[in-house]
Amino acid sequence: MKKLIPMLFLMAALVFVFNLYSQDATYVGAAKCKMCHKSEKQGEQFPKWESRKHSKSFAVLSTDAAKEIAADAPDNPECLKCHAPLADKNAELKAEGVGCEACHGPGSAYKKMTVMKDHAQAVTNGLIDYKSEDDIKKQCLTCHEGAHDKPFDFAAAWEKVKHPIPEK
Ligand code: HEC
Ligand code: HEC
Ligand code: HEC
Ligand code: HEC
Repeated sequence: MKKLIPMLFLMAALVFVFNLYSQDATYVGAAKCKMCHKSEKQGEQFPKWESRKHSKSFAVLSTDAAKEIAADAPDNPECLKCHAPLADKNAELKAEGVGCEACHGPGSAYKKMTVMKDHAQAVTNGLIDYKSEDDIKKQCLTCHEGAHDKPFDFAAAWEKVKHPIPEK
């Protein structure tokens, strides 16, 4: 019993520190991921993303097509929800559209080399853990399910945008 009280204190302290840590994770933007995720050896995640529509999904809200749907498209929170999901986390990241962190979680704490190389540590520091294709599909559907009444073929869509690290 005597040992239980300090134990409880220690646990409470650990929970407190852990919460501080998790609250610390903030959205830093795709440019911060670029230096380590652009080479062929790493899998060219940044250039691949940059060349596809996820990186242009905010810009598309300024087109005539978008204005036909909603005159105030680039300022309309309803459109931003899917077209600029980081806007309400960090206003500076609005223009990057569906950035890396929209799918991977806030990167301020996991983007350190030592953390990145260790999956478990990266997850503790804010990286979203996808355990299966089903987990991935769920994430895509948060925006693609029924969007503009267009069908979404997950397998084909994932084939188009995936960006694996090449086998060594
Ligand atoms: C300092 C270099 C560096 C930076 C900056 C960096 N990464 Fe990484 N990242 C790595 C390395 C190294 C790996 C591990 C590669 C391996 O295992 O072969 C990795 C792995 C990953 C993985 C797979 C991790 C896993 O455990 O499943 C993801 C996802 C990822 N990075 C996303 C990002 C995102 C998003 C950013 C920006 C917020 C970022 N990285 C910034 C170096 C970096
Ligand atoms: C539920 C998520 C979601 C919401 C909300 C949403 N969009 Fe979209 N939007 C998408 C997706 C996903 C696509 C891509 C569809 C595809 O290509 O299959 C898209 C495509 C578009 C396109 C076509 C872009 C192109 O490359 O041709 C325009 C324009 C557009 N959206 C405008 C808007 C406007 C304006 C709003 C707000 C009224 C809005 N969207 C709200 C998810 C959404
Ligand atoms: C935060 C919302 C969001 C999430 C999450 C999301 N998307 Fe998208 N996606 C969009 C929007 C918005 C567009 C349309 C962009 C445009 O037309 O400019 C789009 C476009 C696309 C396109 C057509 C663009 C191209 O470059 O060919 C594919 C394919 C796609 N998404 C696949 C996926 C897959 C696979 C996932 C899950 C791993 C996913 N998306 C997750 C919002 C999202
Ligand atoms: C539309 C969602 C989406 C976007 C945007 C996105 N990723 Fe990913 N990424 C995924 C998913 C899903 C996986 C597969 C599950 C996993 O490995 O975590 C993945 C895997 C990875 C991996 C690990 C690949 C492997 O073989 O282990 C790296 C590294 C990575 N992404 C980096 C990035 C970087 C850097 C950006 C931005 C330049 C980015 N991703 C943008 C969804 C996305």
